[in-house]
Amino acid sequence: MNYRHAFHAGNHADVFKHLVLTNLINLMSHKATAFAYLDTHAGVGLYDLYGNEAKRTGEWLTGIKLLLDQPNHPAFVASYVEVIHALNPQQQLRYYPGSPLLAQRLMRSQDKLILNELHPQDLQLLKQLFKEDHRISIHNQNGWLLAKALFPLAEKRALILIDSPFEKTDDFAQCLNALTEITKRMRQAVVAVWYPIKKKEDLKGFYLNVTRIKSIPKLLKVEMLMQAADNNLGLNGSGMVIANPPWKLEVELVNLLNYLKQILAPNTGKYSIDWLIAEKS
Ligand SMILES: C[S@@+](CC[C@H](N)C(=O)[O-])C[C@H]1O[C@@H](n2cnc3c(N)ncnc32)[C@H](O)[C@@H]1O
Repeated sequence: MNYRHAFHAGNHADVFKHLVLTNLINLMSHKATAFAYLDTHAGVGLYDLYGNEAKRTGEWLTGIKLLLDQPNHPAFVASYVEVIHALNPQQQLRYYPGSPLLAQRLMRSQDKLILNELHPQDLQLLKQLFKEDHRISIHNQNGWLLAKALFPLAEKRALILIDSPFEKTDDFAQCLNALTEITKRMRQAVVAVWYPIKKKEDLKGFYLNVTRIKSIPKLLKVEMLMQAADNNLGLNGSGMVIANPPWKLEVELVNLLNYLKQILAPNTGKYSIDWLIAEKS
């Protein structure tokens, strides 16, 4: 386990993923009934952009900084921006929320958060950060084994984020397996899987295999490229497949991605939204 998210916190992929997550949480909050949020690969929850790791890469300068530098923010990014402003009351951007902290700040008193992190040091930081929030339980398991260990969850409504570091060759296969196991046990769970886009070629097998998962009623794919995916610059963009997206998500994401492209990569950026599994009529 060499991956340290602190090197990448607040980069374009984080902004994309966290804004999709924000929209998912906000849409799920329209119904009063409680829901559970599970973060299978949680990280530490809070990142210092002035810390050594973030300083070494400076990735946040071409991600969250560009967004926060905008004089006004449209409604579909407002709650995400508010969370970041609350962490940086002096107005200068220094602290950036990971997915668990973002979810914690957006979710309601009746909701429940289940966070899982395998790295022992990250786990301690996560526990420290959330020690006073009784809605939160924290696990220290292999994220790929959680479906069998925890599902079905007690709550009938659930949102799951699968955000693996993609440092191992079988990560795409593990994502497919986790999606299958979760939707087999909770068919209506909303499951969002993040993945990196380096070369388009790398994704062909994933697209094909994900559409073959029989337990998923409907599946939306959203991608955001900073530059063409056929060059060798490394992380050219990222995508998410979302099983059972809430009604209205697609429309919200069109506006969001169009806006993000203009802010993060006005000349070379590109986004797409497609149904990989359309809802059966
Ligand atoms: C991409 S980071 C998570 C970032 C976080 N979801 C966010 O958006 O702020 C991936 C995390 O997964 C952890 N990890 C790696 N392998 C894991 C595994 N098999 N099970 C659970 N966590 C794992 C890493 O330690 C790392 O903190």
